[in-house]
Amino acid sequence: MPQNWPIYWPMVGQNRSRKRESRICTGLQSRLHRFDSGRRLSGSGCVSLMGMSVELAEAPAVAPAPTVPDDHVIVLFGATGDLARRKLLPGMFRLAEAGLMPERFVVIGTARSEMDDDDFVALAREAVDEWGHGPVSPDSWGRFAATLRFTAVSEGLEALAEEVVRARRDLGGDPRLLYYLSLPPSAHAEVIEELGALGLGERSRIILEKPFGTDLASARALDARLHSVFEEEQIFRIDHYLGREAVQNLLAVRFANGMFEPVWNRNHIDHVQIDVPETLSIGMRASFYEQTGAFRDMVVTHLFQLLGFVAMEPPTSLSAKALTTERQKVFDAMLPLNPGEAVRGQYAGYRDEPGVAPDSDTETFVALKVFVDNWRWAGVPFYLRSGKRLAQTRHLLTVAFSEPPRRMFPVDTDHFADSFGCDHLTFELGDPGSISASFLAKVPGPTLRLGQAHMRFSYSDSFGGPEQALDAYERLIHDVMVGHRTFFTTSEAIERLWEVSEPVLRDPPPLETYEPGSWGAPAAEALIEPRHWHLPSGHV
Ligand code: BG6
Repeated sequence: MPQNWPIYWPMVGQNRSRKRESRICTGLQSRLHRFDSGRRLSGSGCVSLMGMSVELAEAPAVAPAPTVPDDHVIVLFGATGDLARRKLLPGMFRLAEAGLMPERFVVIGTARSEMDDDDFVALAREAVDEWGHGPVSPDSWGRFAATLRFTAVSEGLEALAEEVVRARRDLGGDPRLLYYLSLPPSAHAEVIEELGALGLGERSRIILEKPFGTDLASARALDARLHSVFEEEQIFRIDHYLGREAVQNLLAVRFANGMFEPVWNRNHIDHVQIDVPETLSIGMRASFYEQTGAFRDMVVTHLFQLLGFVAMEPPTSLSAKALTTERQKVFDAMLPLNPGEAVRGQYAGYRDEPGVAPDSDTETFVALKVFVDNWRWAGVPFYLRSGKRLAQTRHLLTVAFSEPPRRMFPVDTDHFADSFGCDHLTFELGDPGSISASFLAKVPGPTLRLGQAHMRFSYSDSFGGPEQALDAYERLIHDVMVGHRTFFTTSEAIERLWEVSEPVLRDPPPLETYEPGSWGAPAAEALIEPRHWHLPSGHV
């Protein structure tokens, strides 16, 4: 498939024929589309900003992008696992309801456990009821359920190979094959090798879940194995943060406006925070988490990928190649992490979780100071923080601007302004997503007193509401089926990110215990001083 397709945003809630005929994108999606194609906007809409109304232009019909994938046989490894239940099965069902699955497809679930097709249909139905997007119509469920099959793989992949042949024959024509490896990293290599040995690699694509390896050496080994069976164009390394609407919106906000980009650099920015606390514990994922920990689970993957979007130079287009090149330049310019500027924590009680070693050294919290040593960012600290069982679940990016001299303001105001710190932009990157600007303004009255002011844009009350958006996994599964690579990571990026991480992996800082429901290891506060974490007190 061509790598330079423009970005396009498939919308839900359209029927297939209408979608095919009109291919109309609305709202932000087509603004970005227009950004790529240079067309004019028309129409109108409205969003409120702190009581102000701001007119939004609606988009015209734009050039079609392929949204209906070729016919597919989809093999879901780990089909009974947590991710399959929470995201993949409900996601494929939603795509099917939206007319974004192929005309003809079969989903073959595989796992070690024995079950038959009916059991798998029942499991999928439970997953859709629990994690899907709302009421399920009997018709649409019936159509989707008819595509589901199951093959146990405890004895190797021969039975699966036969099922694939059968499914291809049933579909007729020459359907594509898609493997989704929703498996722990330790299981990837064996499955890939067996697929190769059974000749199942041809005319296929493969999706791998992060983390890709556990360090530079294992990432390289995994890549070598992958390439012994698959060409690079067949491989899709999924990082679901890249499929988030609000993350992709960073591209729009930065590059489709005149007001942000000129100040988006070391001359004006004091520091950046990427903060992803979670209230969740590790749940039943001990066997995965014990091998992984917060650094590998969240930082080398999601948080660094976000950093790539925040820090990159304007791409020459929105093609996969252009965006990948710019993100790679950021990763190449990252300085190796300094273990003295990293904090690891473990929540009290983690070692009592089922499946966790009583002397486990796995971190459930991590905070870091990172530098991107290029002309745009040299000297600007990027603070990253993430952990389990923290006080809130958030996905926050804060861009804090350098403090101006405020000497002209009265002394008491000056004191207040100092405690306010930097004026800043805050992006809530979780669903549905929002952006706020926090700054100082005059408090009405006879003297020039300063007070904090905030302006907020929220997806929940703009562009017709968040229900138009696809979930990150839905978007990315669809992208793979149509061969659209923009929001996937490359082996070059992954290897570079492991490379900069090596000092911390080799010489991990000592583990601090923190209380569940807190903000993690106390040393994270010292790490950011004299600045402060935007959370918990910050505005969005
Ligand atoms: C996954 C991690 O990739 O991302 C989980 O393995 C984490 O540990 C999850 O909880 C967070 O994703 P989200 O979309 O809920 O922020």
